[in-house]
Amino acid sequence: MNAFRTGAIAVCAAAALAVFHSRAAEPANIEQRIDALLARMSLEEKLGQMSQTSFGRLTDQRKEEIRKGRWGSFFNGGTPAEKAEAQRIALKESRLGIPVLYGQDVIHGYQTVFPIPLGQSASWDPELVRQAARIAAREASAVGIHWTFSPMVDIARDPRWGRIAEGAGEDPYLGGVMAAAMTRGYQGDSLASPDSIAACAKHYVAYGAAEAGRDYNSAWVPENLLRDVYLKPFQAAREAGIATFMSSFNAINGVPASGNEFTLRQVLRNEWKFDGFVVSDYESVREMIPHGYAADARDAALKGIRGGVDMEMVSTTYWDHAKGLVDAGQLDPKLIDDAVRGILRIKFRLGLFDGREQPVPASEPRPAPEALAIAGKLAAESLVLLKNEGALPLPKTTGKVAVIGFLADSAADQNGTWAMSGGGSTVTPLAALRRALGEDRVVYAQGLKSSADMSRDGFAPAVAAARNADAALLFLGEEASLSGEASSRAYLNLPGLQEELAAEVAKTGKPVILVILAGRPTTFHAVAAQAKAVLYAWHPGAMGGPAITDALLGNSVPSGKLTVTFPRTVGQVPLYYDHLSTGRPAAETGPTASDKFRSKYLDVSFTPEYPFGYGLSYSKFEYSNARASAAQVKLGGRITVSADVANTGQFEADEIVEFYTHQLAGRAARPVRELKGFQRIHLRPGERKTVSFNLSTDSLAFYDTQGKLATDPAAFEAWVAPDSVSGERVTFTVVP
Ligand code: NOJ
Repeated sequence: MNAFRTGAIAVCAAAALAVFHSRAAEPANIEQRIDALLARMSLEEKLGQMSQTSFGRLTDQRKEEIRKGRWGSFFNGGTPAEKAEAQRIALKESRLGIPVLYGQDVIHGYQTVFPIPLGQSASWDPELVRQAARIAAREASAVGIHWTFSPMVDIARDPRWGRIAEGAGEDPYLGGVMAAAMTRGYQGDSLASPDSIAACAKHYVAYGAAEAGRDYNSAWVPENLLRDVYLKPFQAAREAGIATFMSSFNAINGVPASGNEFTLRQVLRNEWKFDGFVVSDYESVREMIPHGYAADARDAALKGIRGGVDMEMVSTTYWDHAKGLVDAGQLDPKLIDDAVRGILRIKFRLGLFDGREQPVPASEPRPAPEALAIAGKLAAESLVLLKNEGALPLPKTTGKVAVIGFLADSAADQNGTWAMSGGGSTVTPLAALRRALGEDRVVYAQGLKSSADMSRDGFAPAVAAARNADAALLFLGEEASLSGEASSRAYLNLPGLQEELAAEVAKTGKPVILVILAGRPTTFHAVAAQAKAVLYAWHPGAMGGPAITDALLGNSVPSGKLTVTFPRTVGQVPLYYDHLSTGRPAAETGPTASDKFRSKYLDVSFTPEYPFGYGLSYSKFEYSNARASAAQVKLGGRITVSADVANTGQFEADEIVEFYTHQLAGRAARPVRELKGFQRIHLRPGERKTVSFNLSTDSLAFYDTQGKLATDPAAFEAWVAPDSVSGERVTFTVVP
């Protein structure tokens, strides 16, 4: 058993060695060199550095612009040869020889497509996530990309928001761990290494708090919530040394994020001492006009620069108006120098002034086998088993399987929302199942051509396939285009006629195994009720097919857990595990509640379909003997909370052990639970381990409405638990 996993672990070690082959120290005297350059730069040249556009083609006009220093950076586009030539022109033919910076959306892999970030986070395996980002950096840097617009670290608590696919889910602690892991993966030990790229924490900030889950919509977030939740993963990225930030499209409490002095200057620069640079999102400086915040383009330039956005993406208000603003005495030229300083600093750190090669490979490289092995391992670890009534793994006696649904064989959809460049190596579940079982044991029926297909013509062949098989593997969910940017949905159900198709297949009485590929939590209660097992696969990337197949056949054991709450219905949204209690918490979990005056719904339970942190295994894990190392801990001290976890099932498997706390009373009400740690452990059948979490009272601190960050001396509960709603409770008190 487990040939795939063992193989993957072996190559992963090899890849880890290969990944660190080249190091380069950061160039010396960067600050003096920046000062020297700034002293020689014209205002136009400075504004050029503060301007970014998409590369397009390297026309004569573009060459001339580069000679004149019109653009500090290009993104998304241009062949490696064009990039190399443009860089040569910038270095050799522009007046001051300032290199250009090439950015790109390398979000979940470059040539090697990894699971969407939401899927990656479900692995709860930051080391593997780091390795995936390292591979992406190696592949992107090999074609001359210097900078990725990733990680996307927006906390998302509303699955209607399509961009929930791009982040690590709803929890600020887990989000921070993943943000740091990806930052370290992209940037390596030194930005100057030829295989490192600069990372960009986006979208700063509260973009995921878009009202009603509608993309680009405004966010209203009180400062304590902003600091305790939405800023947390950004702070973690900052602490991991991230080079850049991207300001978001949304307004925060009425002030657009791309002109927001509080978030960009007060928090990012003054409090966090960030010394890289901030790029706007696509035209988000100009968009302060339709926001109703800037009067016109000139005002947008003023508010963007004053706000703290150093580089303007696509719109050209800085180039068009900043000189006039300086000449009129409205804009302090020091702010321009500050902006340029941060941009040049990152260019220096990347080694762009010091001979960093601008590589031109003979052909677009293909994913290396070791990279695909990591993609497979990450896809495998991201799979979340939501239900299993003994149907999985498929019994060895299974003869034929019916594979039903277009998502079983749609490479582009399984690759997910940001698979821009890779994808050629993608193996679909259908292909992998055929390879594993043999062609004659797999009967495929599309059922529907897409979620927009309103014809039922494909139902009869799907039903016939199920009838002639021992099990029906039903692949349902969302196409890649239904999540990601500008892809919000008002309904969370499996779109189109998919639920109807599922009902027809279920009528055959054959065991139905539901595999869902989607970019967000979806609602599928009725379909799940008719299925014997449900496996949630997200958009699992290039190696999703083999990973799903291995899990179905029992060559691997699902171990992923949800990093976002799954609601029963869209009407419960926003629904997240670390909510406050209310003065009238409901006790009942069903719609038949006897006590009316409680915080609940009349028509549906207030609890989720699947809670945060939830995920099953083929094995069984029992938690016992929860204990704290002391009954009291002094403020500033540490306490250890432990439990024993035993594998009492039949399979050797990983278990993700989660650690939560709850403050019972204090200077503000606190969430019913907050994640403070987690560990992915591996246990053989019959094996037992003690899992301990060493907690500093500092990590219990929170911001109050006065902006004060402190830990209360107070009573706490804690759980070492398999998910966010279960586990044995221990208590301790923090004393002054
Ligand atoms: C807009 C998106 O919001 C952002 O995530 C992306 O990096 C930029 N476009 C550049 O493509």
